[in-house]
Amino acid sequence: MTSIDFVVAKDDLDQCKTIATALPGADALPPDALLVKVDRFAFTANNITYAVLGDELKYWQLFPAPGGFGNIPVWGFGEVVESKHPNVAVGERLFGYFPMATHLVIEATDVSRRGLRDGAAHRQGVAPVYNAYARVSGDPAYAGRHGDYQALLRPLFMLSFLVDDFLAENDDFAARSVLLSSASSKTAFGLAHLLHTRGRKVIGLTSAGNAGFVTSLGCYDEVVLYDRVTSLPSDAPVAFVDMAGNSALRAELHRHFGNQMKCSLRVGLTHRATEADEGELPGAKPRWFFAPDQIRKRAKEWGPGGIEQRFGAVWSGFAPLLERCLTVVESRGPDAVRQVYLDTLKGRIPPEQGHMLSLLG
Ligand SMILES: NC(=O)c1ccc[n+]([C@@H]2O[C@H](COP(=O)([O-])OP(=O)(O)OC[C@H]3O[C@@H](n4cnc5c(N)ncnc54)[C@H](OP(=O)(O)O)[C@@H]3O)[C@@H](O)[C@H]2O)c1
Repeated sequence: MTSIDFVVAKDDLDQCKTIATALPGADALPPDALLVKVDRFAFTANNITYAVLGDELKYWQLFPAPGGFGNIPVWGFGEVVESKHPNVAVGERLFGYFPMATHLVIEATDVSRRGLRDGAAHRQGVAPVYNAYARVSGDPAYAGRHGDYQALLRPLFMLSFLVDDFLAENDDFAARSVLLSSASSKTAFGLAHLLHTRGRKVIGLTSAGNAGFVTSLGCYDEVVLYDRVTSLPSDAPVAFVDMAGNSALRAELHRHFGNQMKCSLRVGLTHRATEADEGELPGAKPRWFFAPDQIRKRAKEWGPGGIEQRFGAVWSGFAPLLERCLTVVESRGPDAVRQVYLDTLKGRIPPEQGHMLSLLG
């Protein structure tokens, strides 16, 4: 039996192909292992960032591929088709981190009523969230369209939630407004929604083609095109959350706002612009926001279940907006997956679309 895997060249993301990987037969599965059919998964610019940072943040080691190629991790759903674990039944549905493939072997460990972990040796050494699978059979929150929203947005909204929490706990660094780059991205939308709900002024920075969509979201007080950012008044304190990772834009904003730039958080790399040496920039020093640090801190302060409970509350306020703002587009088969991959890589996906893919024909 084989799995069809979609892989990309680690040093040239324009190159991609499908390969067939041999799977162990039911008898050859290791003890406690599960063979999972990968049903459907979400694909957004975030997955491209996993590839860009594949070596640095160890994403490539999760689902190894041969010969200089890598398999990009995706969030999605799988169905157990063989099980060597006494407490996991064939037919169970799992939500978690999968390869772009038709199948995955999981070495099930820490199996509880709600979830399990993949204990495979090569998957250790990354943040625990990447090896955790939720057991979601029969859970309406993970079924149908709601399931698609979970795959497309839940992992991104967790970042939105953590950044909002970090800003709130620091009194927004006394900023009067918060600027978000790649305002049309799903991660920025989630953060803008949370900031707006807290009554903060939110300014979305975006490209001309995506400005209409950003305005339509209703949670940005102002929408400014990238080539117009110096038209913003620079006499009041601001915070900047950078989803685009464009060093020229970042430098321009820091120079424009000078000491009024009270906080500058790096979160994403959607523009994949070549990193120029920015030198010393005026205002707060740009720094990467590292989600696991904020999770560790809050887990300690809020106790068991504290993050999940608070996250669940804000997710239930956000999820209903998705019906209005997001069109789920489903594609199946290797050719369709390749097309969506390349369109995402090149920034050709309209922001109102959320792509759910499957390599199964
Ligand atoms: N640090 C973390 O833990 C963490 C967690 C979640 C997300 N993130 C990051 O946040 C970013 C947003 O992810 P997402 O999945 O929310 O994105 P998304 O919804 O797929 O965002 C698409 C938007 O990104 C910009 N874009 C995408 N590809 C581009 C290209 N090739 N050239 C120029 N612009 C391009 C465009 O926005 P504009 O026209 O508005 O610029 C586009 O509308 C990613 O870099 C992701 O890795 C980081």
